[in-house]
Amino acid sequence: MVPYESYVSLAEKLAQRAPGNFAKKATFFTTGVEAVESVVKIARAATGRPAVIAFGGGFHGRTPMSMALTGKVAPYKGGFGPFTSDVYHAPYLNSLHRVTTADALKAVETLFKADVDPKRVVAIIFEPVEGESGFCAAPTDIVYGLRQICDRLGILLIADEVQTGFARTGKRFAMEHHGIAPNLLTVAKSLAGGMPLPGVVGRAEMMDAAAPGGAGRDVCGKPTGCRGGARGARRNRP
Ligand SMILES: Cc1ncc(COP(=O)(O)O)c(C=O)c1O
Repeated sequence: MVPYESYVSLAEKLAQRAPGNFAKKATFFTTGVEAVESVVKIARAATGRPAVIAFGGGFHGRTPMSMALTGKVAPYKGGFGPFTSDVYHAPYLNSLHRVTTADALKAVETLFKADVDPKRVVAIIFEPVEGESGFCAAPTDIVYGLRQICDRLGILLIADEVQTGFARTGKRFAMEHHGIAPNLLTVAKSLAGGMPLPGVVGRAEMMDAAAPGGAGRDVCGKPTGCRGGARGARRNRP
């Protein structure tokens, strides 16, 4: 892919405006699920660790890795296995199912005892608002708890904001409700106002970890999408 001005300037804007008071970079893809697949690749390249923790009820897409991350069998996983391995699920905080914040955080810690050595875990990926389990928003104490677990164990926190990004929850990013920065964040749906423009934004050194060409695409970040995203960025200027 040859970078062009609209791609680069939108990537710079996204990097400036994504949560986190540190240097960030952004890159664009073709579909939301490709942003999800790529964010896991980027995280693995940055840490050398393989395993991922995701949440019950979460939706991350319809490819082998993203189906593995998705925490909902019908209609997304039934009949489509086998899935990518080394993915472990904890229950999402969901008052409908009487899972408290303490339960949800304890369940993550239990995975480290029963299923996977935390030293092998690259990332905890979650949706700040799970759309497929009845629009459940994670309260700040669970997001804070996940951030603490990640910081303690050298695990990356990934917010999948494909659905929640760009003012769909009232702020540009749903993570802004919590004042907590993920290491990496996926975006898509509303970024370019209807034009397909998924992307990943995150810590600059992590975004640079994959070898050139390793986490990109030939056809990605289409100019029409980048122009749509630039219009949105102007409209949403704080
Ligand atoms: C949170 C989340 N992640 C990933 C995806 C996958 O995006 P796409 O359908 O564009 O591949 C979706 C799509 O609905 C989503 O809501």
